[in-house]
Amino acid sequence: MTEAKNIPLSMPNPDENGLFRTLNSMGTMTPCPDIFSSAFIEFAPNAPGRCLDIGAAYGVSTIPALAKGAYVVANDIDERHLRILVSRVPAEDRARLELVPGNFPDEMVFQPGSFGAVLVCRVMHFFDGPRINRAAAKVLEWLAPGGKVFVVAETPFIGTARAFFPTYEARLKAGNLWPGVVENVSAHDPNRAGSLPSLFHLLDDRVLSRVFTSAGFTIERLTYFARPDYPADIRLDGKESIGMIAIKK
Ligand SMILES: C[S@@+](CC[C@H](N)C(=O)[O-])C[C@H]1O[C@@H](n2cnc3c(N)ncnc32)[C@H](O)[C@@H]1O
Repeated sequence: MTEAKNIPLSMPNPDENGLFRTLNSMGTMTPCPDIFSSAFIEFAPNAPGRCLDIGAAYGVSTIPALAKGAYVVANDIDERHLRILVSRVPAEDRARLELVPGNFPDEMVFQPGSFGAVLVCRVMHFFDGPRINRAAAKVLEWLAPGGKVFVVAETPFIGTARAFFPTYEARLKAGNLWPGVVENVSAHDPNRAGSLPSLFHLLDDRVLSRVFTSAGFTIERLTYFARPDYPADIRLDGKESIGMIAIKK
């Protein structure tokens, strides 16, 4: 953490739906951990190594994992988020927190086998296909045997992707490896054009299963789940998010 680290920053107020906007227009942080982040938080204190929270934002999962006694490395591409995160951590937990700003996966380096758990929650849907492959390979390298990765992402089954859905289905039929890539978010969700990157990658069970199995993981759990905590226009039929837990054996 280097530049301008003395400038105070505070947590933004939540939107009326309870979500906290990121400072870099990369979507929002949820106020509470979802079911897969909660599984990471439970696993973290007994993981076979330190824990890594990729795209931690203001600490929705890092802070409860620290409270459980875990040693957490919090990462985010935006260093300002991490400055806010650390200001929210109780003094007694700070010695077990390390902040590592950086662009995952390509600009991050850790010792092989040095982590026991990695959370990538609501970040991979900003990546194109090859980058998702590189992310899975890096996480596998960083995990110790017995370590687990926890992934959460948005799916093609969200209300704001209705217009995109026929494209997704046509690509599926054609055998496209990455059927959920939305190249121009503003064309599908003009309301969020300013608060999301232009590429959005809606992920499904086939893609996550293929990527993480090919990388060398064994998948323990992979399921769609409902997001009652999301704004009404995103909610659809209970499959708005997908979560995965995979182990390095
Ligand atoms: C949609 S927010 C999710 C925040 C939190 N993980 C959650 O589940 O609510 C995405 C976060 O990931 C960060 N991010 C996006 N791309 C990243 C990358 N390549 N490397 C590290 N962090 C990234 C953003 O800055 C932002 O804080």
